[in-house]
Amino acid sequence: MCGIVGYVGPKDCSEVLVSALRKLEYRGYDSAGIAVFEDGNIRIAKEKGRLDDLVAKMQTEGTPKGHIGVGHTRWATHGVPSAKNSHPHAGGEKVTLVHNGIIENYKELKEQLEAQGRSFVSETDTEVVAQLLDSNYEGDPIEAIAKTLSQVEGSFALGILFADREGELYAVRRESPLIVGVGEDETFIASDVPAIIKYTSQYYLLEHDEVAVLSENGVKFCTLEGEKIEKELKVADWDQEAAEKGGYEHYMLKEIHEQPTAVKTTITPRISNGLPNLEECSITPEKLSEIKQIYVVACGTAMHAGMVGKYVIEKLARVPVHVDIASEFRYREPLINKDDLVIIISQSGETADSLAAMRLAKQMGANTLAIVNAKGSSIAREADMLIYTHAGPEIAVASTKAYMVQISVMYLLGFELAHAKGRIDDETCRRLTSVLSGVPAVIEETIERVDAQCNEGANKLLEAESLLYIGRGLDYALSMEGSLKLKEISYIHSESYAAGELKHGTISLITDGMPVIAVATQNALYDKTVSNIKEVKARGAMVILVCDDDAQVGEDVADFVIRVPRIEEILMPMVAAVPLQLLAYYTSVHRGNDVDKPRNLAKSVTVE
Ligand code: F6R
Repeated sequence: MCGIVGYVGPKDCSEVLVSALRKLEYRGYDSAGIAVFEDGNIRIAKEKGRLDDLVAKMQTEGTPKGHIGVGHTRWATHGVPSAKNSHPHAGGEKVTLVHNGIIENYKELKEQLEAQGRSFVSETDTEVVAQLLDSNYEGDPIEAIAKTLSQVEGSFALGILFADREGELYAVRRESPLIVGVGEDETFIASDVPAIIKYTSQYYLLEHDEVAVLSENGVKFCTLEGEKIEKELKVADWDQEAAEKGGYEHYMLKEIHEQPTAVKTTITPRISNGLPNLEECSITPEKLSEIKQIYVVACGTAMHAGMVGKYVIEKLARVPVHVDIASEFRYREPLINKDDLVIIISQSGETADSLAAMRLAKQMGANTLAIVNAKGSSIAREADMLIYTHAGPEIAVASTKAYMVQISVMYLLGFELAHAKGRIDDETCRRLTSVLSGVPAVIEETIERVDAQCNEGANKLLEAESLLYIGRGLDYALSMEGSLKLKEISYIHSESYAAGELKHGTISLITDGMPVIAVATQNALYDKTVSNIKEVKARGAMVILVCDDDAQVGEDVADFVIRVPRIEEILMPMVAAVPLQLLAYYTSVHRGNDVDKPRNLAKSVTVE
């Protein structure tokens, strides 16, 4: 939610800020702005719309020239997307800042400031912090920041320019992420590593309530009391190429193609002697054998990865698994016991609801295991146990490779848990692990095989107002993700349904020509799903069937059949996910949508 950047160095600041913001547009893209020290004054340029709209505006009205500044790309929370609501916000004469996060008590603070005679130009919570900081500033930036932070409640990362401190850029955060990059003779702040990777791979992670002071002498860190802090310099292992499109038309397509490598990089180090080995992540067979019950808590796609995990773990390890939406879990007083395992799945590691859910689980005494992609993120740092997925940076808002690696970890965990509990023998565990190791090659083969067909199949969905995804068992778990993928980037309404549940109400929605995408890869359930397909077909549905090479598909069953290679049945979601991703992708492309930046969405949801 919103991306912030800052720069101090010899380069043209506006150019650096715009280039860094491009890498953060996935966090929000309804307006953008920069503020730069130019000849002793802070000059602000901001505009509603994409970063390109800001660039166009600066081309006609002039680009701020200088070497120190901050920038912002917005995902609106308080106030509509507009130039006046976009950041940076000036708090008066003394302070200009950019903000990522939410100030929860902004209404009370605004009333207090208005009572002091201040008036506001925007509807944002950010301007309230800017004005508060401005009113608190009497020449000592740290003192003013500390006083302001003692008054605000919520989550935030701030990049601040004080008008009388031309050589300095201040940054502070609470909850919302912020890194401080260090290059040769230059320093940066950013919400995420890809923003600065073009300039440097070295960075510090700013912790809660730590202040960073960037100047031409480098960066210094201190507490809110002004005490100096020494921090560990980190080196990002994501290179620039990995964060670029690499010749693909969209990041989403690139990321779909990166899935074989992402899965391989994620699982290979966790397999030894042919068996899963998660000891490096502090997960021992002894610990696993004691688990009585598992909760998987996550949002969106990550929650859908949990759904696949539920079927796998319950089937193989016979341990009950409850999958919860994090925003529900955190407020419904869940019944967690001390020996329960709570698994939090998150690509960004910063999702506000998932983080809060994990903290709640910890408070209640449960063991927490985080499955996270973004290194050093809040969820990764606070979990008791941690498995990093190695998908590399995922830029497209619609998650694909992160989902795939999340599932791959759920399989590894399921296999090891079942083995540790004595539910599967050595030989079975080795066989399953070996099939999993072979999945990257099958995903690659599948992409090649179904790409053109999905492109063609997508044409059948373009005019639909609404459609259904159906499946049973693991196919149902996968359908949930297929449906979310389609709706978020094509803007066509879609729901996923357990195929057997249709006739309890939903089948009344079927009208002539309505698309139904059926997934049928599970042998024992195949005939039952086919019966459900026939029921919708008899009522006029246009059926696209995703099945495997072995499926016997009668002529009257589907209008369009997409076959994927068959592997061990329990692992079929990793293969069948590919056509669902590509169908969504091509539908979005053919409808002329912005595939990587769908409307109203943002990649990292750091607000409730
Ligand atoms: C959809 C998508 C979202 C995320 C969700 C959780 O394609 O990406 O549904 O899965 O917002 O995000 P993370 O995984 O960062 O916690």
